Amino acid sequence: MTQHVGELTPPVRLMLTPGPSSMDPRVYRALATPLVGHVDPWFRGCMDDTQVLLRQIFQTENRITMPLSASGSGGIEASVVNVLEQGDEAIVAVNGAFSERMYEIATRATSKVAKVEAPYGKPVDAEDVRRAGQGKKIKMIGLAQGETSTGVLTQIAAFRKVADELGALLVVDTVASLAAVPLHVDRERMDVCFSGSQKAISAPPGMSPITVSSAAEESFRKRKTKVQSWYFDLTTAMNYWGKDRLYHHTPPISLIYALREAMRLVVEEGLEARWERHRVNQLALIAGVEAMGLKLLVEKPADRLPTVTAVMVPAGVDDLKLRNQLLDEFNIEIAGGFGSLRGKIWRVGLMGYCSQKPNVLLFLAALEKCLTDQGYRVGSGVGVGTALKNYSQVEAAVAVSR
Ligand SMILES: Cc1ncc(COP(=O)(O)O)c(C=O)c1O
Repeated sequence: MTQHVGELTPPVRLMLTPGPSSMDPRVYRALATPLVGHVDPWFRGCMDDTQVLLRQIFQTENRITMPLSASGSGGIEASVVNVLEQGDEAIVAVNGAFSERMYEIATRATSKVAKVEAPYGKPVDAEDVRRAGQGKKIKMIGLAQGETSTGVLTQIAAFRKVADELGALLVVDTVASLAAVPLHVDRERMDVCFSGSQKAISAPPGMSPITVSSAAEESFRKRKTKVQSWYFDLTTAMNYWGKDRLYHHTPPISLIYALREAMRLVVEEGLEARWERHRVNQLALIAGVEAMGLKLLVEKPADRLPTVTAVMVPAGVDDLKLRNQLLDEFNIEIAGGFGSLRGKIWRVGLMGYCSQKPNVLLFLAALEKCLTDQGYRVGSGVGVGTALKNYSQVEAAVAVSR
């Protein structure tokens, strides 16, 4: 039976999701450039560039710094299975679905993993981790700097202090925060830090940048057993990304081109300017939704992750119906909640290329229309008007400081 399959014509969406984010046209162009072999001498230069850019964005001098051929979950897997072996003790700070995933992966590497939790909408208290680790030989403390399922930001410093006291390696998930939130891998002494290509870097999904401190590298050398995963054994994977460029597996070459271009955009903008852009756009979004009478899941402003804003679904409004209308009428995709937060929150992403003033204003206008259609009462234009006022204040303050 012959069945005709038509040309690929995806809709052009504005992806205000917690990832993937929409991409800059330069990144699309990089994706469409000619393929070369993964051991082609020209490609070695492209790999060098990729690592130079990764080190700049992670702010590290770490030797092991590379993009894993895997999505962000592969970054969790690689970090955990290289650090832990059976019998090791670990603590994972869990405050949402992605830190829970790190915990789940850790339990497959060793049976001695403690989970220290915080209610959804809050960061885990580092003091609780200290208490859980007292008197134990803890090898790893793991956490997510940005917990995408709830929109919570965790400050790293207190966890570093506890890791020092317990003699543990610090593993940090920055899938939702790298290139959007202040992060200095060397200065903050993270031992393993990984991210995802598709969030604030705004490259296609499928790569997980990772970097490993010399202390963690040393601990890898002292392992008694082989890393349980051949593919994610960072020491052998580094044979390809290290100076010898020895074949390990065939990497997604076109994705590396795209990641390289997306990171060039990050560096051209400047990390500090990019962090500020994310901060300012989230503040305007929050001002707009609050002016519309909506509440946020994360109560404390300091705990809010600039890339993902969790907005409570108001009583009487149907979560899915509203999200479908945003998609059908405005081509805007946002996300709903996971697990116990399903139907209770909307997660609005302002990541990388998507974190722009026109997108914030369009979203607020579209949200007003969808809410009004469901009988939710909101003053005409109040969200957009308040966000605009917020932008004007920031712009005026910047003008004064110049
Ligand atoms: C904080 C965090 N960690 C890990 C992941 C998993 O990444 P991926 O879906 O690319 O495997 C995500 C995905 O949203 C995330 O937000």
